[in-house]
Amino acid sequence: ASRPDRGTLLAGRHLLVTSGPTHEPIDPVRYLANRSSGKQGHAIAAAAAAAGARVTLISGPVTLADPPGVTVMRIETAREMLAAVEAALPADIAVFAAAVADWRPATFGDEKIKKGPEGPPPLALTENPDILATIAHRQQGRPPLVVGFAAETTDVIAHARAKIARKGCDLIVANDVSAATGVMGGDRNAVHLIGRDGSLESWPTLAKDEVARRLVARLAELAPSP
Ligand code: CTP
Ligand code: CA
Repeated sequence: ASRPDRGTLLAGRHLLVTSGPTHEPIDPVRYLANRSSGKQGHAIAAAAAAAGARVTLISGPVTLADPPGVTVMRIETAREMLAAVEAALPADIAVFAAAVADWRPATFGDEKIKKGPEGPPPLALTENPDILATIAHRQQGRPPLVVGFAAETTDVIAHARAKIARKGCDLIVANDVSAATGVMGGDRNAVHLIGRDGSLESWPTLAKDEVARRLVARLAELAPSP
């Protein structure tokens, strides 16, 4: 069998990617966030566009440039990200690479919280919607190939295996985001691909761009024909 040329691997496919952190406002001047840079998600969007896909990238606040040839929707909060994902469907492939904030402040006021004699204000949190699980469990309009990420600091593979079942996705890309690995914010990543059937494939430490190219090639194999 002949290998398709680069540039056509994902021709005719619509691929949706989430990337970056979300910001959850506490008051007009403060927010909760995390260390995600968006590098891995943006690299996947760029690699998919280079492989001929129509790509929609839904990104939280990042300092990265928009990848060429990609439609970019910028959002701040998890709830905005979910709305943007739903608006961007249908898609043939959805890759949820964003580091979505699990919680947001339960209340948000229009006025800046001031220091006072009572001491620090309590910060009550409420859970954000799980975007990946919401989309993967849809009865109608579920993308035929749904890919999640798992960000772990211990027992990476065991936690990721539990996640694939809970989330209802087809594939999980698990990475160790402990501070010592330098993955969060860095240019390299070491990932494990975990399939729904329990299959496990561990890739060596690679540049995030190379992880993205290999992942796109894998998605082209796994995605049903358009
Ligand atoms: N995710 C999501 N929406 C959320 C939280 C997570 O879409 N509110 C997605 C992420 O984009 C990722 C996957 O779910 O693809 C796993 O995220 P992760 O933070 O590793 O898992 P959680 O289920 O949030 O569990 P925990 O943070 O407790 O490990
Ligand atoms: Ca989480």
